[in-house]
Amino acid sequence: MSAESSTFLAARSDAVPWIMRRTVTMDPRTSPYTLTTLRPEHFAGLEALQQACYPTLHPDELMRVPHFESQHAVFAAGQIVVEVDGQVIGQGSGFFTDFDFAAPAHRFAEFCDGFFFRGHQPTGAYYYGADISVHPAWRGRGIGRAIYQARKQLVLAHGKRGIVAGGLLPGYAAHRRDISVKEYVEAVVAERLFDPTLSFQLKQGFVVRGLLPGYIHDSASDGYATLLVWDAASGDL
Ligand SMILES: CC(C)(COP(=O)(O)OP(=O)(O)OC[C@H]1O[C@@H](n2cnc3c(N)ncnc32)[C@H](O)[C@@H]1OP(=O)(O)O)[C@@H](O)C(=O)NCCC(=O)NCCS
Repeated sequence: MSAESSTFLAARSDAVPWIMRRTVTMDPRTSPYTLTTLRPEHFAGLEALQQACYPTLHPDELMRVPHFESQHAVFAAGQIVVEVDGQVIGQGSGFFTDFDFAAPAHRFAEFCDGFFFRGHQPTGAYYYGADISVHPAWRGRGIGRAIYQARKQLVLAHGKRGIVAGGLLPGYAAHRRDISVKEYVEAVVAERLFDPTLSFQLKQGFVVRGLLPGYIHDSASDGYATLLVWDAASGDL
């Protein structure tokens, strides 16, 4: 965004007491965004957001209205929604769980109980980040970072150890003829290559702890994801 077109608008966060109020730079033609937690009026907008954000995912990997209904019933406080003028333009969903780093392999849909999140463990040591997505028209304005900050505040407020997630690799498709997924991830971590998702997650303080083959039906990454961890003790907000 050019300096001429930028202005300061406040992200309204009063609906979520554990989210720190912050100011973001946005285009003056757009409205401030609001971080809040999941409510029934968000369900349809979230289903549409999934379709806009994940064009390479198999339709079975997308969350739909019944999933959001269940997530709301199970753990509404853990589901972050971003609105502009009442429209859903971003989300961060997940649940508390224990995680066995000695046997980390898992499939996305299974680990998330088919996206119904009924495996939510209030006493679990980690927040499992099931999804973070920002509508393509709203990317690059700090909204993804704001969602992660809200998640981190949630984790700290509940005394959890951190965040675990499987990270997609949408940029791998352009390199799959030349290098393996492992080589690609190493190059992104070393900042020799840029991945629209992994580079963002590394900037948020996440560390790659391994690769998860068969994680998801995604034509862009051949089904691989990175095993990502943010350690609450790192103090990296
Ligand atoms: C990943 C995603 C949520 C990021 O959301 P976003 O609102 O665009 O991210 P932000 O604007 O907060 O960017 C955060 C940082 O990443 C950088 N970044 C984000 N997108 C970038 C891009 N395309 N090019 C360069 N840098 C980028 C920003 O510069 C920013 O760094 P900074 O805070 O040091 O300035 C968004 O791209 C998305 O929805 N992707 C598709 C869904 C997806 O893959 N989700 C993750 C599943 S594991």
